[in-house]
Amino acid sequence: MARAARALGAAGIEAPRAEAELLAAYVLGVSRGRLALAGGLTPDQLDRYDDLVARRVAREPLQHLTGSAAFRHLELAVGPGVFVPRPETELLAGWGIDRARGAGRPLVVDLCSGSGAIALSVAQEAPDARVVAVERSPDALRWLRRNAADRIAAGDRPVAVVAADVTAPDLLAELAGRVDVLLCNPPYVPRAVAVPPEVAAHDPDEAVFGGADGLAVIRPVVARAAELLRPGGVLGVEHDDTHGGAVPALLAADGRYEVVEEHRDLAGRPRFATALRRAR
Ligand SMILES: C[S@@+](CC[C@H](N)C(=O)[O-])C[C@H]1O[C@@H](n2cnc3c(N)ncnc32)[C@H](O)[C@@H]1O
Repeated sequence: MARAARALGAAGIEAPRAEAELLAAYVLGVSRGRLALAGGLTPDQLDRYDDLVARRVAREPLQHLTGSAAFRHLELAVGPGVFVPRPETELLAGWGIDRARGAGRPLVVDLCSGSGAIALSVAQEAPDARVVAVERSPDALRWLRRNAADRIAAGDRPVAVVAADVTAPDLLAELAGRVDVLLCNPPYVPRAVAVPPEVAAHDPDEAVFGGADGLAVIRPVVARAAELLRPGGVLGVEHDDTHGGAVPALLAADGRYEVVEEHRDLAGRPRFATALRRAR
């Protein structure tokens, strides 16, 4: 593991020791916390470990190597074709869960659902919610449906998966004026921004980039959400950390929202904006 950590560090991985341990735990089939109690690697396991470390040195995402990503209380299946959920999005999901809990049987919509990280977390942590997850990419939809089926098997309330373009003017027309909580982590990186090798080569382009200014999906979502939300319903949308002014300004300019707020992550970076649908 010390050798692997050195190789990972030299390849520019930010937490090389932690990742060397996580890969060893994966090969041994134990949690990272139980690594010290596990026996050594067999020669076959060592070959497998070396292979995984070499792929990580080539900047394949750790979550693609292990086939799973942790998100709040879930382990989601991920791999080629789907965006790997990020820890910072747990904040937006948590905000939405807090709004959905204790609100009767709220209708919660997750736009740009990807692996289902937000939608499936809401279904697990706010079990009275009816949850709809919308995604356009056929590849991402396969992962989303697989994760949704796994969560049903684990006992969570089913999430309705809808294949649709969130920028379509008639999106979820049957839910207009009825949604209590609408959450969205859209593609939002401005096209010209350089991204790490894991993202450039392994996250789908359409999951990452939001047009020239990063707002190409957020703009139509802000407009459509105002039609989908009931009066008093709430919207939370994640955005690029350079858009802590732009997204609240879009929400305020729409005219149909009030209580527009910007939220920062633990590092103090602007992370997501929220707003309440006005009564009229
Ligand atoms: C940043 S990822 C977020 C995935 C997931 N919600 C999460 O937080 O991990 C954005 C997702 O939006 C999807 N997407 C991009 N444009 C879309 C559109 N116009 N309609 C529906 N989904 C879209 C992408 O395929 C991708 O899965």
